[in-house]
Amino acid sequence: MPILEGSIGVEDLVLLEPLEEESLLKNLQLRYENKEIYVRSLWVPLAVGVLESSCIPIPYPPSSFPLLSSWFQTYIGNVVISVNPYQQLPIYGPEFIAKYQDYTFYELKPHIYALANVAYQSLRDRDRDQCILITGESGAGKTEASKLVMSYVAAVCGKGEQVNSVKEQLLQSNPVLEAFGNAKTIRNNNSSRFGKYMDIEFDFKGSPLGGVITNYLLEKSRVVKQLKGERNFHIFYQLLAGADEQLLKALKLKRDTSAYTYLNQEVSRVGGMNDASNFQDVQRAMIVIGFSEEEIRQVLEVTALVLKLGNVELTDEFQANGIPASGIRDGKGVQEIGEMVGLNSEEVERALCSRTVETGKEKVVTVLNVIQAQYARDALAKNIYSRLFNWIVNRINESIKVGTGEKKKVMGVLDIYGFEILEDNSFEQFVINYCNEKLQQVFIELTLKEEQEEYKREGIPWTKVDYFDNGIICNLIEHNQRGILAMLDEECLRPGVVSDSTFLAKLNQLFSNHSHYESKVTQNAQRLYDHSMGLSCFRICHYAGKVMYNVTSFIDKNNDLLFRDLSQAMWKAQHPLLRSLFPEGNPKQVSLKRPPTAGSQFKNSVAILMKNLYSKNPNYIRCIKPNEHQQQGQFSSELVAVQARYLGLLENVRVRRAGYAHRQGYKSFLERYRLLSRSTWPHWNGGDREGVEKLLGELSISSEELAFGKTKIFIRSPKTLFYLEEQRRLRIQQLATLIQKIYRGWRCRTHYQLMRKSQILISAWFRGNKARKNYRKYFRSGAALTLANFIYKSIAQKFLLGLKNNLPSTDVLDNTWPAAPYKCFNRANQELHQLFHQWKCKKFRDQLSPKQVQVLREKLCASELFKGKKASYPQSVPIPFRGDYIGLQSNPKLQKLKGRQEEPILVAETVKKVNRGNGKTSARILLLTKGHVILTDTKKTQAKTIIGLDHVSGVSVTSLQDGLFGLHLNEMSPVGSKGDFLLVSDHVVELLTKMYQAVLDATQRQLSVTVTEGFSVRFKESSVAIKVIQGPGHGEKSKFICKKKGSNCLEVTVQ
Ligand SMILES: Nc1ncnc2c1ncn2[C@@H]1O[C@H](COP(=O)(O)OP(=O)(O)OP(=O)(O)O)[C@@H](O)[C@H]1O
Ligand SMILES: [Mg+2]
Repeated sequence: MPILEGSIGVEDLVLLEPLEEESLLKNLQLRYENKEIYVRSLWVPLAVGVLESSCIPIPYPPSSFPLLSSWFQTYIGNVVISVNPYQQLPIYGPEFIAKYQDYTFYELKPHIYALANVAYQSLRDRDRDQCILITGESGAGKTEASKLVMSYVAAVCGKGEQVNSVKEQLLQSNPVLEAFGNAKTIRNNNSSRFGKYMDIEFDFKGSPLGGVITNYLLEKSRVVKQLKGERNFHIFYQLLAGADEQLLKALKLKRDTSAYTYLNQEVSRVGGMNDASNFQDVQRAMIVIGFSEEEIRQVLEVTALVLKLGNVELTDEFQANGIPASGIRDGKGVQEIGEMVGLNSEEVERALCSRTVETGKEKVVTVLNVIQAQYARDALAKNIYSRLFNWIVNRINESIKVGTGEKKKVMGVLDIYGFEILEDNSFEQFVINYCNEKLQQVFIELTLKEEQEEYKREGIPWTKVDYFDNGIICNLIEHNQRGILAMLDEECLRPGVVSDSTFLAKLNQLFSNHSHYESKVTQNAQRLYDHSMGLSCFRICHYAGKVMYNVTSFIDKNNDLLFRDLSQAMWKAQHPLLRSLFPEGNPKQVSLKRPPTAGSQFKNSVAILMKNLYSKNPNYIRCIKPNEHQQQGQFSSELVAVQARYLGLLENVRVRRAGYAHRQGYKSFLERYRLLSRSTWPHWNGGDREGVEKLLGELSISSEELAFGKTKIFIRSPKTLFYLEEQRRLRIQQLATLIQKIYRGWRCRTHYQLMRKSQILISAWFRGNKARKNYRKYFRSGAALTLANFIYKSIAQKFLLGLKNNLPSTDVLDNTWPAAPYKCFNRANQELHQLFHQWKCKKFRDQLSPKQVQVLREKLCASELFKGKKASYPQSVPIPFRGDYIGLQSNPKLQKLKGRQEEPILVAETVKKVNRGNGKTSARILLLTKGHVILTDTKKTQAKTIIGLDHVSGVSVTSLQDGLFGLHLNEMSPVGSKGDFLLVSDHVVELLTKMYQAVLDATQRQLSVTVTEGFSVRFKESSVAIKVIQGPGHGEKSKFICKKKGSNCLEVTVQ
């Protein structure tokens, strides 16, 4: 009957229908087969919340009601049932921890994390100390569960360097204790062979401060003997497998486990367990906890000592008088032990093989026979190991202890052996089962009894539900005068002959009529015939079943005595740790008082534990073993049924169900449900109880469903609670709709009002602005602007008119312009001046004839070529270019010179040609036409040299006053082969300007005109450098003297 959609079976046993063992087992099996290993077993105190989207009422409050979480935690005795999956399930780790941290016990699937979360939150937020009781058979998963609790708490509690180191120490105590206290048994490969209770202490913020570990009854008999298929404690195998050669040598050990009598030879390895790497982990963990290197070494030495002690072989010997005695077969082993721990080997030998008995003031030494000596040796080994284990626990406690004076909250985690029914049950099973009886008592007291007593307290009529109260069994065992343990002690202390059978006889006599005690004698008395009952046995009807105990060695085990010779020998060791384990060996501290017996010690520690548990809020993890074979997926109903019976799962649920599913204080109940009635919603002015009565009366809930206690309302069935919650959900929806409606209306209204207000404001401002703009002109304040504009316009007008009437002359060279009357017109005046000048220039240009334009263009070209470069340029500017300087037009003789060249003549003048060879000059007539330069003798009428303008590559002139210029020709031209011409012209500026233009017109090429101090002219193959020097004279006419300097240089001096 799934309650939550998608849940398998029922997650909460209180919802189980029908409530019978069969359905319980089926439910557990169904869930187990679907890998759901956890189940809750408590009705949800206020479990009914409703998932918003679902229409079925669901007993889980939605996470959106955080208030609910604290309600659950008021409830005592949360229980999670865990069925060992024997496989790793993907339901652990940080992701799941985070999930459970944010939800309450009932919101998510049952889980150990959920329980740990409830406990931790209750501890942190409600300041209530907690304990988590983990019980179950061996191999049911207690230790794993305790580790899950610890890892959960470590993950959710505070952080910080200090806190993390405390957490780490607490967590690392596990591998160390497991190495020394766990062993492979037939039922569990990693069975805890001791009980463990760990108090984790927190500060007010919930950060861990430290802790205290208490250990109970280590199964020390395992040190010397193991059952078939079992191993000794893990540490022995880990040490031999994981220690490096050096360490082994130091400890005088061999790696081979078969070399040691105390190690079971059949099983030295456990599947899935790596002893070597575990050894490294243990060493690392010890360092984290705070063990020093020296301490670790000493611990390992004592461990090795135990192994070596097992190899000490004892042989039969006889004294002179024929009395059997014993001796050591091979002294080497004892010697090695002596060397390792600083013991005198002879003394060890003596202590093992003899015994000193003190009677009054006399000391009598008696020899031990082989059996006794072996017993003594084994007793020594067991004692050394169990004391070492206690020392380790104390050493861990020293590291994790919290300073006194700090106020702390405590969470106790109890991982203790479960109920044991073996084939042959001895003293150990007896005390273990006694401990389980006591734990069951806590469970009964704190859950079943408490539940029923609450009804009494509240004055609710109540038919008592029967459950088995195991007080009577506890009494049978622990009663101070008449309990089994008291009888055992008495027998141990009694003078005279005592044996296990005298002890049994005493029990038979005392409990002959006890309903939970049976033995052969009591059965015989009642004429019962029980084949299974042994003569040396008694049987106790425990709450979990009948167990038959064999009394053999009860007395011995209870006495737990170690011959004083042995403890004294150990105390004499130089090994500090070994010595400290045997303080009673110190002769100065010899006390004749007997040490407390094992039974009474255990009883006391259980009493302390119970006191501790009663002071805390209990939470239970009930571990169940699904099969005997440690196999995943196998569910043995018979086996689980036995466990479910003695865990009292059904009783627990029955009490809950027979009673009221839900109870709640009137105040908080009213607060939650008052919205369901018009009388109590929205205001209720009466008392809380009256309010609840009124409210439930209006809802017409059957009176059988309700009981009004003194302070609380009790609701019988979950159905009613579902109904209430459903009604509340619907009502909340209604109210939410109402609130939404009102809110939406209010929002629209206020929005509209705001818009309207804004609109009115905007129009008011707009209209005002418009009106102000229209009327501004009528405002006195506007007059100043108008006046200023008017004045400005009038002075501008005056300035412009004045300018118009006083314009300067239109002569382009006249640059005068009247100043602006006001500074503010300066820029306008400048621009007007510029405009006027450009206008004058334009006018001047417009009235020029094309010829004048041509002249001016030539002048412009001359200026671009020579202005600022050649000294004779300024003189040439005012002189118009005449072109013809030899009277070409009027002289017919010269006319002939034109010859074939019919092109118009641009320049005709007489130039001097400088002889490049000697620097002498001779006159020549030069004609420049549109396509040629023609040179001829002054006397001849035939052209001497005709050079096409396309062959002129460039001209070079000096920067001085002179008329010298070099006419550079292309080498490829017909005349060019002779070289460049060096000529002197009186109109060099005009000639070269016109030549430049002619070349441009004829060849579209810009003639290169170089103005320079010195240039070179090509002369046939070589070139002649022309160096120009300014002479001292400053005559009007330029003169120059040309001198040959060397073969390749002509020096020209310009006067
Ligand atoms: N939640 C779990 N998930 C996976 N495996 C588990 C779980 N719980 C227990 N086991 C398996 O069961 C084995 C036995 O569990 P555990 O040692 O906790 O038993 P125990 O109740 O402490 O037994 P003992 O009383 O002998 O110490 C573990 O070694 C592990 O392999
Ligand atoms: Mg365990």
